[in-house]
Amino acid sequence: MMSGTTVIVTGANSGIGRATTAGIVKLGGRVIMACRDVNSAEEAAREIRQETDADSKLLVVKELDLASISSIRTFCQGIMKEEPRLDVLINNAGVYQCPYTKTEDGFELQFGVNHLGHFLLTHLLLDLMKRSAPSRIVVVSSKLYKHGHINFDDLNSERNYDKAFAYSCSKLANLLFTCELAQRLEGSGVTVNALSPGIVRTNLGRHVHVPVVAKPLFNLLSWGLFKSPEQGAQTSLYLACSPDVQDVQGKFFSDCQPQVLLDKATNCEVASKLWDISEVLVGILK
Ligand SMILES: NC(=O)c1ccc[n+]([C@@H]2O[C@H](COP(=O)([O-])OP(=O)(O)OC[C@H]3O[C@@H](n4cnc5c(N)ncnc54)[C@H](OP(=O)(O)O)[C@@H]3O)[C@@H](O)[C@H]2O)c1
Repeated sequence: MMSGTTVIVTGANSGIGRATTAGIVKLGGRVIMACRDVNSAEEAAREIRQETDADSKLLVVKELDLASISSIRTFCQGIMKEEPRLDVLINNAGVYQCPYTKTEDGFELQFGVNHLGHFLLTHLLLDLMKRSAPSRIVVVSSKLYKHGHINFDDLNSERNYDKAFAYSCSKLANLLFTCELAQRLEGSGVTVNALSPGIVRTNLGRHVHVPVVAKPLFNLLSWGLFKSPEQGAQTSLYLACSPDVQDVQGKFFSDCQPQVLLDKATNCEVASKLWDISEVLVGILK
């Protein structure tokens, strides 16, 4: 179903990205695992090869740190030089509720990685995707976008940092990006859609402190109530390859079903303003 296609998955070494990668190679697609920790990605690639019996040529590890503009540029230069086509880009990597940290370029980490890093990555790969059309961009967001708000006066949370709010804002930014990009891609043969994976048992909660006494109960609940990474990857896989959505543009999905978004995630004015500011921040426009 995906043989002959090349897919980039960001954050492919862990959680949903890893399960998405395994799902794509099972369908015969080739995955470029775009990861900041190359050793961890090589290890994941080895395990996926064993689990799936995939041809070793179907998994390629490349270094990408979305918290660094220079790393994103180097990664994309390599792709443009080496890859004749790119069929699917899955913007999956994410940081959740980390302590206040800045990226190499001075952006608050959640805004910087979840939104700005993927914004620049997509921008730099777009020509190749247009040449490879029909092609698809898949944006992994979250229903927690509902609690976010784009505060243009303090995008980097310098005045006030609430780690949960900053995560929600970054996931709202993912949806506003999807909304604006969908408009810009009209007629190009490239589609972009976003999704929420649900609550999934992954390493995402690494910065969330669960008291030692509550850990057994938390683990029990997560095993009982959370999705497995494989289940959490289903909507990413659906948007990456299902013929049902080949012409669908700018929509939000959960459990492989379209969802209605709150107005704040589809507000064209806010989406366009965020786009313009993001271009300046990542240095596309001076
Ligand atoms: N799990 C959930 O319940 C849930 C719910 C809603 C949305 N999501 C979204 O799902 C996506 C995948 O998360 P997950 O749950 O699979 O979590 P995860 O297991 O922690 O995976 C996150 C991935 O992002 C990568 N990453 C973090 N910072 C990066 C950077 N600077 N450059 C490149 N890669 C970076 C991580 O790399 P390292 O391993 O090197 O840190 C890891 O591969 C995220 O966008 C998250 O917001 C998850």
